[in-house]
Amino acid sequence: MKQIMKLSGWVLAACCSGALMAQNVVVSTPHNSLVLKAKEGETPKVLYYGGRIAESDVQNLSATVVAHNAFPVYGMNCPSESALAVTHADGNYSLDMMLTGTSTREENNATVTVLEMKDRVYPFYLNLCYRAYQDADVIEAWTEIRHTEKKPVVLRQFASAYLPIRRGNVWISHLSGSWGNEGCLTQEALTPGLQVIKNRDGVRNSHSDHAEVMFSLEGQPSETNGEVIAAALCYSGNYKLRVETHDDDYHHFFAGINEEHSPYTLKKDEIFVTPELALTYSSEGLSGGSRNLHRWARLHKLANGTTLRKILLNSWEGVYFDINQEGMDQMMKDIASMGGELFVMDDGWFGQKYPRKTDNSSLGDWIVDTEKLPEGINGLLRSARNHGVKFGIWIEPEMANTVSELYEKHPDWILKAPERDPVLGRGGTQVVLDLANPAVQDFVFNLVDTLMNRYPEIDYIKWDANMSVMNHGSQYLPATEQGHLFIAYHRGLEQVWKRVRAKYPRLTIQACASGGGRANYGVLPYFDEFWVSDNTDALQRVYMQWGTSYFFPAIAMASHISAAPNHQTGRTIPLKYRIDVAMSGRLGMEIQPKHMTDEEKEFCRKAIADYKRIRPIVQQGDIYRLLSPYDRQGAASLMYVTERKDEAVFFWWKTEHFVNQHLPRVRMSGLDPQRLYTVRELNRVEKYPLAVEGRTFTGRYLMEQGLEIPYSHRMESHKQMGYSSRVLLLEAAK
Ligand code: DGJ
Repeated sequence: MKQIMKLSGWVLAACCSGALMAQNVVVSTPHNSLVLKAKEGETPKVLYYGGRIAESDVQNLSATVVAHNAFPVYGMNCPSESALAVTHADGNYSLDMMLTGTSTREENNATVTVLEMKDRVYPFYLNLCYRAYQDADVIEAWTEIRHTEKKPVVLRQFASAYLPIRRGNVWISHLSGSWGNEGCLTQEALTPGLQVIKNRDGVRNSHSDHAEVMFSLEGQPSETNGEVIAAALCYSGNYKLRVETHDDDYHHFFAGINEEHSPYTLKKDEIFVTPELALTYSSEGLSGGSRNLHRWARLHKLANGTTLRKILLNSWEGVYFDINQEGMDQMMKDIASMGGELFVMDDGWFGQKYPRKTDNSSLGDWIVDTEKLPEGINGLLRSARNHGVKFGIWIEPEMANTVSELYEKHPDWILKAPERDPVLGRGGTQVVLDLANPAVQDFVFNLVDTLMNRYPEIDYIKWDANMSVMNHGSQYLPATEQGHLFIAYHRGLEQVWKRVRAKYPRLTIQACASGGGRANYGVLPYFDEFWVSDNTDALQRVYMQWGTSYFFPAIAMASHISAAPNHQTGRTIPLKYRIDVAMSGRLGMEIQPKHMTDEEKEFCRKAIADYKRIRPIVQQGDIYRLLSPYDRQGAASLMYVTERKDEAVFFWWKTEHFVNQHLPRVRMSGLDPQRLYTVRELNRVEKYPLAVEGRTFTGRYLMEQGLEIPYSHRMESHKQMGYSSRVLLLEAAK
């Protein structure tokens, strides 16, 4: 007997035989499907993950694929990597899970499918959960672990999800780097052995490796063609991704919390919920994978993801700790005069007993330094009102300095081992607060709440975090739960973020962590954007933003015009290039405007006006990466196209500068081949327009032939710049 149950667009294809039901569970998004073999009394298997599959093929899948355990557990016939490993209350290490039931539930724009499992011997339970979106091609997979054994069970390994990937010249693209050099792209073929991508910082998890990867299934990665699976672990703490390739036809991909130094003692009936692993499949190459993730991020995973971001000036590189009312007022006036919409006062505004003059004191003492700001925040809000801009403020709520009133009052609130002096961080005095402690959680929430209650006009918060967990020790958790420290920290933090967001859903909040230390989908539900890097050098940003764009949409990537020479690299890059790079993300400025010439300010004013025109295209459009800076062909290029394909912005940046260098002609992508697009250059510095200015081309021509981009700007020789770049707006005829 064959029976099809239709669940609001999602299909469960069921085959019944006798008392047992052999059922293929199909979890589908508009263009993706995951098929699981789920027969009660047996171990669930994953049969298929890829493009949306026809129902008739689902029926016959078992005949064509190797079925793998949907969630390999340790202890019985499992010589290779596992997703879950435990020590039962009686000391036994083994698990043997069987399906006990399947259920589905509807959520907003998504269906959640749950495979319920139980160990064959122990009262140990596992739910495999899958959330499939109806308006984005992403399936989130996670697990819920529970038991009713007499004593606690220790979780030694607890991945979120597992996926087998058929071998055959599969390549992995992933990000690595370090402070000031985040988001570097690495692409390599998967080879036999175990590849591990992990983080153990405790606080910031994306300076070096990232918790997101893409697999190109058909050989060397292409931006436009070929099958791609992208995966992003939605977690703000330590993570571990593993790809094991050994003696069979599959690569075995596991992703979850990094269990190192984190054994978890699970009490009876406590439910351990892992973070979600977001999965998407695209047959349109790496850019296709990015577009799927970006759409999901904007619609579901990023705070206020469909609201356009304001153009801001941040005070950090302009004045560093040298905050005062007059200086802030001047910066607000300047950004307003250039058309900016928001001013953000960075570090250095707080501390009374210990004023924050540099980075070695005051974190935790979130009271205005009235020496610097005699009129307090109210004085700044008045300035903002006068100049017609919004006001934002910097905080670093998870931290303290040992030189602070907070530390004097609550030395027990910091992470440190008993009987030991803490290892200290930034400024030689920084310490991390113990977010496992509910009193600390309240303190952090109250900091935001008090600021917002007292100054409801605050429009933006930059939430920084500048230290790793350098001391394993919670003064709150009992001795038996010291292994929970990393997990409890991030749970505590998430609780705070949830409270903040419940009360202040429209407040714009930036996740900053010594630059790009918090670019991850664990924080983004609570944050509107993240700071890509403390390195604002436009040339290096081309590389960092390129890598970051694999997984995160432009709306989330804060990208600022800064000074020349650049404060991090010392490189002098023309303002045009700096603007052209910053405009490809969430545009802002991080500069002392009073050191800019009138001509430079005028250039920025025009660029800001033009950014307002292209903002919806950049911040809500689909990305098409065209020419990679990592391919070292002398230039890089990408474009954003609206969903309706009626407007696009094309970015082109030269990455090397040699005479008579033969750069490739860049073909565009993502346009409607039938439509006619008129080309208009933005941020033009030359006297004469490009030959293509104002001309109209079909989408087909632009995608098959591209445009010839002159590799230098035709300027008087003393104005020649070693850094050409172009921004072209393409508008389709109505
Ligand atoms: C580190 C951040 O990444 C910078 O942007 C700046 O906010 C400093 N902290 C302030 O101390």
